[in-house]
Amino acid sequence: MVAAALIDIHIPAHLLPLDGRFGSGPSKIRSEQIDAVVRASRNILGTSHRQAPVKNLVGSVLDQLRQLFQLPQDWDVVIGNGGASLFWDAATFGLVQHRSGHLVFGEFSSKFAQASLAAPHLGDPLVIESAPGTVPTIEPACVDSNIDTFCLTHNETSTGASMQLSRPATPVDALVVVDGTSAAGGIAWSPSEVDVYYFSPQKGFASEGGTWIALCSPRAVERINKIKSAGRWCPPSLDLSLALENSRANQTYNTPSISTFVMLNEQLGWMLDNGGMSWCTNRTQQSADILYGWATSRPFTEPFVTNPQHRSPVVGTIDFIDVDAAQVATVLRNNGIVDTEPYRKLGRNQLRVSMFPAVDPSDVQLLTSSIDYIVEQLS
Ligand SMILES: Cc1ncc(COP(=O)(O)O)c(C=O)c1O
Repeated sequence: MVAAALIDIHIPAHLLPLDGRFGSGPSKIRSEQIDAVVRASRNILGTSHRQAPVKNLVGSVLDQLRQLFQLPQDWDVVIGNGGASLFWDAATFGLVQHRSGHLVFGEFSSKFAQASLAAPHLGDPLVIESAPGTVPTIEPACVDSNIDTFCLTHNETSTGASMQLSRPATPVDALVVVDGTSAAGGIAWSPSEVDVYYFSPQKGFASEGGTWIALCSPRAVERINKIKSAGRWCPPSLDLSLALENSRANQTYNTPSISTFVMLNEQLGWMLDNGGMSWCTNRTQQSADILYGWATSRPFTEPFVTNPQHRSPVVGTIDFIDVDAAQVATVLRNNGIVDTEPYRKLGRNQLRVSMFPAVDPSDVQLLTSSIDYIVEQLS
């Protein structure tokens, strides 16, 4: 058969996912969340974030986050503007005391390490790095007693590798600070292994970017207060003690995106109504089983992450063999299936597929059928 021109490939309707959004953030927003925004447009959007309607909304988000993650009573849920990227900078001011240790295995984990390295008031960080697609491990021999903060990434969105969260054995009083930006809501973890779990809401929580959320243990709060009282200079917008104070009053230090909180509130309600975290992780695992099962059974694909235990259930990266993945992504896009392109700096012949809780596993199944159809047409 003569290979079809990309623009002429029309995927049959019965193979198309009902929703074609597979991006790794911003990611699929469910229509019920948009309905919630429309409802809020009458009495919440466009009103003061210092008054009861918005503060109650923020309070509801904080309560639902506590329930979803089953946080111990004494944990704080701290919020602020600027997304996870801003939180890295805030952490270099307000969480790292002298020196941090970073596990680096892709673009996002490396950015926090760079922020710590650039901070003039901190010692050079320890960086333990592994190749993209793998997960680094902490060898006790390479950790010294000066490390006061370990910085881990639950799911490296740039590569689709995820790590099990466990507290390093030494130093015993070091904080464990985890970037959960793409993992949050889709991969389980235990608060006993973590002191700070922070994320932006435009991935697993199907909301908009621009906000950061940090779930903080009492040890983390103690560190924030200790650094503050020692008088280290900190720009107010990065000051975690100010963020903490405001969060306890159901507000942010400066004006937030209220529609983000509306969408987040709706998504959290949906997750909890369906059974909470175990329902969410079953759903993402179901999608992942479909995607990786398909990729290992085809001669033209293989999962990029070779160790099955490290294959992310929320962001799947699939390498293509003797098929141009960019062409596949283009045809998918022409047919309304978007954002399957790989992380731009990884430079691999692959597709990246998000499987956040909002994504229906049956749509992941249909996506694989659509790709099969395209590959058949291209060959
Ligand atoms: C793991 C991870 N950390 C941090 C970020 C940065 O998040 P934001 O763009 O909301 O600052 C991202 C964004 O994709 C991410 O995937």
